Parts: sequence; C-alpha cells; structure tokens
Amino acid sequence: MATILITGGTGYIGSHAAIQLFEQGRFNVVSIDNQLRSSIKALDRIEAISGRRMTNYSIDACDLHAVEEVFEAHPDIVGVIHFAALKAVGESVEHPLFYYRNNLESLVNMLACCEKYHVANFIFSSSCTVYGDIAVEELPVTEKTITTEAASPYGATKLMGERIIQDFIVSTDKVKAIALRYFNPVGAHESGLNGEEPIGRPNNLVPYITMTASGLLEQLTVFGGDYNTRDGSALRDYIHVTDIADAHLLALDYLMEGRNTAPYERFNLGSGNGVTVLEAIAAFEKASGVKLNYRVGDRRPGDVEQIYSDSSLAKEKLGWETKYDINDMMASAWKWQLELNKTKEKQQS
Ligand code: WQD
Repeated sequence: MATILITGGTGYIGSHAAIQLFEQGRFNVVSIDNQLRSSIKALDRIEAISGRRMTNYSIDACDLHAVEEVFEAHPDIVGVIHFAALKAVGESVEHPLFYYRNNLESLVNMLACCEKYHVANFIFSSSCTVYGDIAVEELPVTEKTITTEAASPYGATKLMGERIIQDFIVSTDKVKAIALRYFNPVGAHESGLNGEEPIGRPNNLVPYITMTASGLLEQLTVFGGDYNTRDGSALRDYIHVTDIADAHLLALDYLMEGRNTAPYERFNLGSGNGVTVLEAIAAFEKASGVKLNYRVGDRRPGDVEQIYSDSSLAKEKLGWETKYDINDMMASAWKWQLELNKTKEKQQS
C-alpha cells in the first residue's frame, strides 16, 4: 500500500485528514509533527476513530536532515500534504520572524525532498489570507481575485509559500502541486472524538467561544463592532474541518489520476457563506443551548473586515461538495469541547 506523508499530522486539520485517509483505506499515512502546536494525544484520537495507528515522526520540518531521513525510511511515499504551519493572525503580527522561518523553511524542505525522492504529488495548505483586505465589491473571492498585500505576516507566509511552489514547479518536471486556500476551518469530527485543542489561550474564534461557554474562559471579546458589515462585526467564511479534510483526498486523486490541467493549480475551500462574528455567536447559542458571555471591544491588528469565497472551481474540478453547515460546525465544536472537558476532569480526579 503506497504511503502519503502529511506534515502537521497531529494538528487540527492534519489529524482530521489522517482520519479521512485511513477510513478511505487506500494509503498508509505517516506524519511529521513536533507537537509545537498540537498534542501527541491526536494519535490516540485518530486510532479511536479510524482503527489505525499513525506513525508520527516528532521532528521539526525545518530540519532538512531529519526530514530526509523520513523520506529514506519510506521509499513508497507517493504524495505529500503539507499542513504544518503556524496560523494565528494576531500572533504573527507580534512574532513575524518566528512565522517566516517556521512556515517558509519547512515548505522549502518539503519541496526539496519531493524532488530528491521522486514524490510527484504535493498539496499545500494555503489560506484565504492570501487575498488580504478585499473591497466589498470584489466579494465573493474567486481564485482569479488578485492577491495583493496580505494583511498579516501569517497571510504573507502563505502568499510567499504559493510563490515558492510556483517557482519550484516551473523549475522541475518531477512534481505537480495544488494549493488549497482554506477559509476559516472550524468544528470537530462528528464522533466528538477529535477536534481542535489550542494550547493555552486560543487565538481563533470558535475554540474561544466553546471554552468561554464551558466556563474555562471568562468572556469572549468580539474584536470590533464598527466594521462596514450588516451588524458591525467582521465577516468570515466558516468551513467544517471534515469538509476541508475531504478536499485533500479529492485533490490527491485529481493529481494522481492526471486530471490536473496545469502542473500547479490553486483552489478556494470555503462554504461560500459569509457569517459575521455576532452571527457565529448566535449560531453557537442556538446549536448548544448555551448563552455566551461576550463583549464588543476594539479591532484586532491584522484582521480583515470581510471575506467569503466562491469555491465553485473546487466543486467543478475536484468534485468537492461541502456536507456541513454553520449549525453542524458549532454543534460539533461544542460536542468536542464537552468531550475534552470530561477527559480533563477524569485526568484530574
Ligand atoms: C475569526 C473572526 C476575529 C477571536 C483564520 C485562521 C487562519 C486562516 C483564516 C486557514 C475574526 C474574530 C476571534 C476572538 C473575535 N485559516 N475573533 N474574538 O483571523 O479569520 O484566521 O482563518 O489558514 O489560519 O487563523 O480567524 O478565528 O482568529 O478570527 O472577535 O476572541 O473572529 O476578529 O473576525 P482568522 P479567527
């Protein structure tokens, strides 16, 4: 059975992709993840759901020699999915060099190893943050929307990452690539046995909501109530993490079956629905039955006002269809938070 190498396999999106790959049953899956922003417990969760124990190499993807050793140990790798990256917009504004080194050096290493070890299929975890601040008349964004200045160092690492891949693909005929531009991945596996587990105080909205709702955090601050949106709070395109994971399996098949129409293609992965922060809170309250304690505060540096996607290209070329709506996202996130809290209470008793 051929192997797919994923980086960030114990992380939020990587672990959900590993579950989908194992359940599909066509590939062995190995991971590179040093648990900088994830927990090794993800291996237990993946196994509990899929019945498969993923091999994870706890090495830094920025360490080229260590990465080469993984490729040498697995000569049957036929595809790489590069999830591993730091991804908090706010944090990247405070620590830009940390983001540039981590996100770009790891990408360069993975590409170099694909060429050296003859791995022809490369999928890159990109982001809607490559679009930067979008004028409302340009929404929804398509893959043709001009990517200008990213609004944060995080977004800049994704924009530069896409350019690095482009220049690399032009320089070699050995590798084909796809960049998947995620909008806002949220939610958890429908079983309630895997989900997002931020380390410390969460940067992202939905884990902040669920931790506040379960009393682990005092109050959610809505970052900005004076945006030019229908209710003044910022607008995003939330997409269920399992829908995102499924897109990676379709993208792999698209490349491996030779259906790609160019050696490097980019696809939006969003639900196509714009939801404001206040609407996301209302959807959570409806799905969980819990009233959320929140206040409206100042804007967060690096945030864009509003963005949502036209993801019809992924539907047309990859055959990708979203299965979950905002209520499923909030209900699954809440179910996962309750599961997490139960596990932590058991550990403390
Ligand atoms: C969402 C909205 C905040 C926390 C994310 C990922 C990034 C990329 C794009 C994939 C914003 C508001 C948040 C809080 C709030 N995805 N918010 N209070 O910044 O859109 O970026 O999606 O690559 O990796 O980070 O997501 O969840 O941080 O914020 O009001 O306590 O929620 O201002 O409007 P963001 P987020």
